[in-house]
Amino acid sequence: MTTAAQPIFSKGEDCKAAWHDASAGYNEADTHLEIMGKPVMERWETPYMHSLATVASSKGGRVLEIGFGMAIAATKVESFPSRTLDHRVQRRRILYDTYPLTEDTWHTHQFDFIKGHAHRLLKSGGVLTYCNLTSWGELLKTNTTTSKRCLRRRRCPICSRPASRRTRSAPAPWTSFPPSECKYYAFHKMITPTILKD
Ligand SMILES: C[S@@+](CC[C@H](N)C(=O)[O-])C[C@H]1O[C@@H](n2cnc3c(N)ncnc32)[C@H](O)[C@@H]1O
Repeated sequence: MTTAAQPIFSKGEDCKAAWHDASAGYNEADTHLEIMGKPVMERWETPYMHSLATVASSKGGRVLEIGFGMAIAATKVESFPSRTLDHRVQRRRILYDTYPLTEDTWHTHQFDFIKGHAHRLLKSGGVLTYCNLTSWGELLKTNTTTSKRCLRRRRCPICSRPASRRTRSAPAPWTSFPPSECKYYAFHKMITPTILKD
């Protein structure tokens, strides 16, 4: 199990092969989800998850959600009329919130998805939103000046690295207050990106 002082991933750690068959550990109060000892999802994120779900549902149509977690975003998506979830095919809306599975891809797996799949999967006019709080929480700890500047300027490494010339992005800052015992995020600002495919 990870503690607040330890990094979430150790050097070279790779959970990929075991993750699929690992059990999801929900605590009794249903506020915390752990998989392979990693703090994967916590209930305090609800308002932030709702902001991602709202962006992903903003223009109607089906939403492809990748990263189910505690179904907080999924439940919000389904609360909008006609915004059903679709885990199968090319769609206009994508909500990407998976957990890093290796130390090597801890801070970059979302870029791999954006480059390798999101642009191809989205139709023209489609929207992508995503987060990687496990990465951002660590980057804010270790590279505070740059990361805080990014949040202040409504820019971030993601948005200065667009998926392609044909995408536009506009991250909106979001305020939430993680509990002090949260092991992966200790800041009260996060971003809700809206990335549009022309
Ligand atoms: C942070 S949680 C998602 C929280 C979710 N957005 C919510 O509202 O509850 C990340 C989830 O992504 C899943 N995951 C990790 N790697 C994945 C992958 N390659 N494809 C799909 N899901 C993955 C994890 O098992 C976990 O359920």
